[in-house]
Amino acid sequence: MESMNKEVLFSREIIDRRVRELAEEISGDYAGGEPIVVGVLKGAFIFMADLIRSLRIPCKVDFMQLASYGSGTVSSGEVVIKKDMGLPIAGKDVLIVEDIVDTGLTLSFLVKALQDRAPRSLKVCVFLDKKMRRKIPFAADYTGFTIDDGFVVGYGLDFNEQARFLSDVYIIKA
Ligand code: XMP
Ligand code: MG
Repeated sequence: MESMNKEVLFSREIIDRRVRELAEEISGDYAGGEPIVVGVLKGAFIFMADLIRSLRIPCKVDFMQLASYGSGTVSSGEVVIKKDMGLPIAGKDVLIVEDIVDTGLTLSFLVKALQDRAPRSLKVCVFLDKKMRRKIPFAADYTGFTIDDGFVVGYGLDFNEQARFLSDVYIIKA
């Protein structure tokens, strides 16, 4: 951890403000409803915790964990469900909450997998979007920040399981 050369990309104040804006938008869009918010473990857990506490609507909460076969910081595109959610979603409004969309492979897989369960609606909220890195087209319904290429940590995001607990988002410097 001490050896990680990094600098702040988004401070906790900037993050808090943006998360509250997203929560306002989501609350408006789901007014009168009660979506099932599905967090993708582990990276999204802090973002999701902040987001749902700023919502003005009730929600239910569940989690999934995915594994993508690939080495280090690059995902290969072969995605499998490592831990499935427990709540049934047929006929329900479902909002996936993910930390980052990068190549788009992980979220494309997850959206397809959940679409097969016939939810009434299915949307995706990502904290960060590395738009330039897409291998397949993928557009999130709600995006915290769009960032350039580069590896980021903190606010739930890790590098080899380090740095998730940090309150700010950092970019790792070579
Ligand atoms: P794809 O390429 O399938 O990958 O869109 C999305 C997943 O890759 C992880 N990812 C990162 N994790 N810092 C991280 O901590 C990053 O800079 C980063 N870029 C991609 C992320 O877990 C996401 O679920
Ligand atoms: Mg992750």
